[in-house]
Amino acid sequence: MRIIVVGGAGTIGTAVVELLSARHDIVVAGRRSGDVRVDISSEDSVRSMYRRIGSFDALVCAAGEAHFGPFETVTEEELAQGVHSKLLGQVRLVLLGRSLISDGGSFTLMSGYVFDDPIPEATSFAIANGGVEGFVRAAGLSLERHLRINAVSPGLAQDSYEQFGPFNPGRTPVPMRTIASAFQRSVEGWRTGEVIRVR
Ligand SMILES: NC(=O)c1ccc[n+]([C@@H]2O[C@H](COP(=O)([O-])OP(=O)(O)OC[C@H]3O[C@@H](n4cnc5c(N)ncnc54)[C@H](OP(=O)(O)O)[C@@H]3O)[C@@H](O)[C@H]2O)c1
Repeated sequence: MRIIVVGGAGTIGTAVVELLSARHDIVVAGRRSGDVRVDISSEDSVRSMYRRIGSFDALVCAAGEAHFGPFETVTEEELAQGVHSKLLGQVRLVLLGRSLISDGGSFTLMSGYVFDDPIPEATSFAIANGGVEGFVRAAGLSLERHLRINAVSPGLAQDSYEQFGPFNPGRTPVPMRTIASAFQRSVEGWRTGEVIRVR
């Protein structure tokens, strides 16, 4: 398969690319990294990415930002960062890509543990993740041409443990290969409209 991995040079994206590249043709996209430049928060940029890449069989998104900081001082604008980037950025990839992807192709989006097992600093991520999970379940009912869509919701990644471990007392990190395997299950498997939790 020809697979676009948005955020494929990031912490989780790198593990996904490492696993999938043994069996597939991978195109990595990112704002400042990868084979093709894209900013998922811009409609023009996403359209231009699809134009440059041409045909593809699957899209994986391991990108999307949100605000991280204490809840006591968070503003509405900061909370909305997750909606504009992580939620609507991923929705945009599907809306603009659904008529371009091959028959039977798949979209795999990124959620995360802070939706259903929250920490106070990550409310903006929690809002975005909830939206992503709702979108995937709803879109899974209606995609045509046997297209599939899922989200992967990882726990705290092993390679992020040093950075985010202090905000997650007692949380066991998830091996990178385990997270990557969940993306493989979505891309190569049969499921649709599902959230694959990897904890
Ligand atoms: N790490 C964890 O433990 C963990 C756990 C659960 C969920 N998640 C979720 O997984 C996602 C990725 O996390 P990560 O830790 O791998 O992050 P990361 O190391 O910062 O990597 C993010 C990647 O996405 C790209 N990117 C960021 N914003 C983008 C945009 N607007 N348009 C296009 N590409 C963009 C970045 O590339 P450029 O800088 O070149 O744009 C980078 O390659 C996040 O949504 C995070 O919430 C992470």
